[in-house]
Amino acid sequence: MTRKIIIAGNWKMHKTPQEAGVLAQAIVSAMPTNLACEVVLCPSHTALATVSTAIAGSAVQLGAQNCHWEAQGAFTGETSPAMLAGWCQYVIIGHSERRQFFGEINETVNRKVKSALKYGLTPIICVGENLAENEAGLTQAVVSDHVNGAYAGLSAEDALKTVIAYEPVWAIGTGKTATAQQADDVIGLYIRPALAALYDEVVAQSITIQYGGSVKASNAAELLGMPNIDGALVGGASLQAGEFLGIVAGASAKS
Ligand code: PGA
Repeated sequence: MTRKIIIAGNWKMHKTPQEAGVLAQAIVSAMPTNLACEVVLCPSHTALATVSTAIAGSAVQLGAQNCHWEAQGAFTGETSPAMLAGWCQYVIIGHSERRQFFGEINETVNRKVKSALKYGLTPIICVGENLAENEAGLTQAVVSDHVNGAYAGLSAEDALKTVIAYEPVWAIGTGKTATAQQADDVIGLYIRPALAALYDEVVAQSITIQYGGSVKASNAAELLGMPNIDGALVGGASLQAGEFLGIVAGASAKS
């Protein structure tokens, strides 16, 4: 089964529009032409315009870090998928930082996923357990709950248009990476079976599932070389062009 390999940079709340444009330009100008994967940059909403300009004409795609589920309305401070659709191909949904700090729950993740798909955006749905859950042996229960919540009421046809990022919360921004085997096991033994239970084995084996959590150039090839890991959602290391390009190069471990 060949799945899309996707390396996405999640710039989080970093970079002014101008700085983001400069970083995107640096990445694009050094990007190899024979890419073994898709590359997506996800700046904050205020930098979508400058990054969009910087990547124009290249193979690099644009993603947002969040969206609302409604197309428009009285939701001060929010951005709708209809507003992102003109710029972005991807949108990150349900990132653990949104779950932790902004009250994101399975139900809102589910509404956002459906709305993103309606507007032609590919949702990158984040799932993953925190340290306490991991230590309590709850990893399978948590990732299954995140998958069941995100995909509730979604047809198989729509499910096939989604991407998942498995991000163990204890590995995000901490420098601690899940071992390649640990990450591959959670994806292969828990996440794909949860998808198979909702749909079937073909759907479960067709969905791109990235790993995220302290991915860097030095560990990318090992992680991406694992059979169940189809790319990376990269935070800190995506803020440096050289590191990010090193991760993109690691995707050739797949081919
Ligand atoms: P990190 O972040 O690479 O800095 O650990 C990953 C993420 O939060 O998507």
